[in-house]
Amino acid sequence: MIVLGIETSCDDTCAAVCDGQSLLSNVISTQLIHQRFGGVVPELASRSHIQLMLPVVRQALNQAGLGRRDLQGIAVTFGPGLAGSLLVGLSVAKGMALSLGIPLVGVNHLEGHIWANSLSNPGIAPSFVVLIASGGHTQIVFVREWGDYEVLGRTRDDAAGEAFDKVGKLLQVGYPGGPAIEKIAEGGDFEYTRFPRAYLEEGSLDFSFSGLKTAVLNHVRTIGSEQTRKHLSDIAASFQRAVVDVLVEKTVSAAKRVGAHRICMAGGVAVNSALKGEMARCAGEEGMEVSWPTPELCSDNGGMIARAGFYYFQQGRTSSLALSPVPSLNL
Ligand code: KG4
Ligand code: ZN
Repeated sequence: MIVLGIETSCDDTCAAVCDGQSLLSNVISTQLIHQRFGGVVPELASRSHIQLMLPVVRQALNQAGLGRRDLQGIAVTFGPGLAGSLLVGLSVAKGMALSLGIPLVGVNHLEGHIWANSLSNPGIAPSFVVLIASGGHTQIVFVREWGDYEVLGRTRDDAAGEAFDKVGKLLQVGYPGGPAIEKIAEGGDFEYTRFPRAYLEEGSLDFSFSGLKTAVLNHVRTIGSEQTRKHLSDIAASFQRAVVDVLVEKTVSAAKRVGAHRICMAGGVAVNSALKGEMARCAGEEGMEVSWPTPELCSDNGGMIARAGFYYFQQGRTSSLALSPVPSLNL
């Protein structure tokens, strides 16, 4: 079955073609307009999706060497995400499904992120624990079976990627903060200063990153702009280390608790090399396998939506044309 996947939950306009295990194309158009605002402006995001969606779908079909009539199903993200952004992808998906006379299926964006692991590592199969860490979400999920998910922990305030973005903004290193901080942290000393790690109450698998962001702000204010410039790499490395420590420790604890032998990762923050390295090291000490998707499959993309949709179609699950956006959809 040839499935077109459409993803427009935030600021990436994405379309991909999947034939089951592999992707025939995976086109991602990242909206650069938000950079000058240091964050995603929802109204601008939906307007950009309107301009970019059809060209991106056309490009995905061209790269796959297929025409519209070769498609046999359309999978589209219906939540969680920005309502206006979701609406653009949904409208295009519904219009195409109706005009081509093929089935439509709505995909949970978070489930898509989990499926990205199977595209990069086709051998992996549940059960496993997955850390989803992006700009909008940070949660630890136990995947008992495909379609059977238990959220073991989630952030109580900022998402991990959001913390990178906010600290990136206060260190004035550009937006998005994650890749910029990782790069600057490369030459830095992560033991320069010890920023707080919020482990919360005993045994909790939840996260909190807002205090860490405030600690960085206070530190920068205390040492002043000259010292901040001088120690930029060290501050970035110390901040990154604090985020990585908590993400890794809680994910490995979660896997131990449910008896999982594999840890997977998902979301834009999973691109971070310090996180991957530390996760591999700590999980390895516990005898667990660790894997993560390739960078373009960690961040938002249509491929993961097409792959999840392919699974739904195999299960005989479809959505009606009345499918609406659900901005606060949970797993
Ligand atoms: O999954 P994603 O592309 O979009 C969302 O669904 O949010 O994730 C984007 C987030 C941003 O907050 C960005 O700063 C962060 O992922 N990110 C990183 C890295 N690359 C992207 N964070 C840390 N290190 C990176 N290398
Ligand atoms: Zn995402």
